[in-house]
Amino acid sequence: AWGGTRPPIIWLQFAECTGCTESFLRSTNPFLDDIIFGAASLEYHETLMAPSGQNATQNLLNAAANYRGQFICICEGAIPTADNGVYGMIGGKTMLQIAKDICPKAKAVISFGACASFGGVAAANGNLTGARGVHKALGGYPTINIPGCPPNPITLVATLTTYLLNGSFPPLDGYGRPLFAYGTTNHENCERKLSCSAKCLYYYGCRGRTTYNNCSLVKFNNIVNTPGSPDGCWPVQVNAPCYGCSEPRFWDRSNFFLYN
Ligand code: SF4
Ligand code: F3S
Repeated sequence: AWGGTRPPIIWLQFAECTGCTESFLRSTNPFLDDIIFGAASLEYHETLMAPSGQNATQNLLNAAANYRGQFICICEGAIPTADNGVYGMIGGKTMLQIAKDICPKAKAVISFGACASFGGVAAANGNLTGARGVHKALGGYPTINIPGCPPNPITLVATLTTYLLNGSFPPLDGYGRPLFAYGTTNHENCERKLSCSAKCLYYYGCRGRTTYNNCSLVKFNNIVNTPGSPDGCWPVQVNAPCYGCSEPRFWDRSNFFLYN
């Protein structure tokens, strides 16, 4: 289903908590090893690769040069932009400079997670570091945004698969999010919407009505086509209101964290 080529992937980590990588590690459709050793070629990923220090930096430069114009750059985390980006450094270079050097060499840039897409918690009110999503940090550079805190790896895999099969990325909404995953709200497909027994969490702060994402539809850790395997879960299913983590500025928008 992935076609005949293994697209090189360079995964950059900026101001983040590694939660998006943790989510990616739990990909179940297909599993992670099938992705990074089979379907794609993961050339650089600071959390997963063996080299460190200068060897790692050299790996990044080599991969970007060898696969220039061919690799898909997946970004995780916001980019501090204040004071020329000095609040985020890796190997003596600002994250801002790394993004400026690497992203334009890519075939396409995917921002994976709320921070890379829109700034996330690093960009919360105050934002002394000037943290921004990749699109804004690079002056409006076109990115495919897969927000969420964390995002669902199934959306990343489906986006990559669409590209491999069709040679183009799926249609996006006004926030750069793939419509196939962010075209409906969590509320629309929530099992509590019409349920008599399971209580709707709206009055507990649930933002499913205004949150465009596929959590209620595809859930997390959903292992399909495997008899006896768990069928996944999502926050509302375990009595946690949706806090809207795939929407821009969700981290500033309400006092949800204060009274729930
Ligand atoms: Fe909608 Fe949330 Fe209520 Fe589900 S729990 S029906 S997503 S408001
Ligand atoms: Fe986020 Fe709401 Fe889904 S909090 S993970 S968009 S259920």
